[in-house]
Amino acid sequence: MSLTSFGDPRQKITAALLREKKLRHEPITCLTAYDYSSARLVDAVAIDIVLVGDSLAQTMLGYDNTLSVTVDEMLHHVRAVRRGVKHALLLADMPYGSYHASWDEAVRNAARFVKEGGAEAVKIEGGEKRADLIRRVIDAEIPVAGHIGLTPQSVNVMSGYRVQGKTLSDIEQLMRDAVALDRAGVTCVFLEGIPREVAAMISAEIQAPTIGIGAGPDCDGQVLVFHDILNLTFAPPAKFVRRYGDAAAEISHAVQAFRADVLSRQYPSDDESYHLPKETKAALDTLLERKRNMRR
Ligand code: KIV
Repeated sequence: MSLTSFGDPRQKITAALLREKKLRHEPITCLTAYDYSSARLVDAVAIDIVLVGDSLAQTMLGYDNTLSVTVDEMLHHVRAVRRGVKHALLLADMPYGSYHASWDEAVRNAARFVKEGGAEAVKIEGGEKRADLIRRVIDAEIPVAGHIGLTPQSVNVMSGYRVQGKTLSDIEQLMRDAVALDRAGVTCVFLEGIPREVAAMISAEIQAPTIGIGAGPDCDGQVLVFHDILNLTFAPPAKFVRRYGDAAAEISHAVQAFRADVLSRQYPSDDESYHLPKETKAALDTLLERKRNMRR
């Protein structure tokens, strides 16, 4: 048992293990988590990768897109998730602006996720054009996951969230992107919002495991957003989202019941209250009785 497993008998998920899973055709599971409690729940059911995605800008912080979230805001969540994850590989998203200005700044920010957040790898959006930068980050001993296709940080240049890779030239570019990331040595490649056929070709071509979201069933693994699978997004789901629970309904039901119980004085009950020790209660009763008598 390794030190990092904290007494957990399950095998700690590492980059090497993800590659083995690809070779064994064993699907890789990944979910986002943004805080301690969701991280514990996700880790407890043996999800392979816990991603602190910059999607937290929308799911946790209520921004319209992922562009405004900062490294410091991300780190706050990565640290909380770190405390809840023992088994999964902990992957942190590098937010928009944290790796665009210079390679040195990118390495410095990536190192913050490792040193201050406890992340085991960082995710960087973009393909061929990021390959050299990703090599630099890997040279600094920081494993990197790639992310191509519909990359939400490019929302303004893509003019919205659109499925990518629909024309032959776009497919060729996506393939070049995937191969460039693979050669740069990424731990895995996230494929978002691309046709199934293209994701299948990329997954068969590269050594690194592919993790799909809206990319069909032929990827080496699948990722979904925690809030999406639990109906906590307050918006109609994308085509690829499958709801596995209705936490919004559960939470709303519980909150309404609490409010009703308080209004009708059914909460808290005597059993849910603390009581004085018998002797203190008797002494207090005697004291109060004496005060009442003095007032008469
Ligand atoms: O930020 C995120 O949650 C992501 C996944 C959707 C892949 O990047």
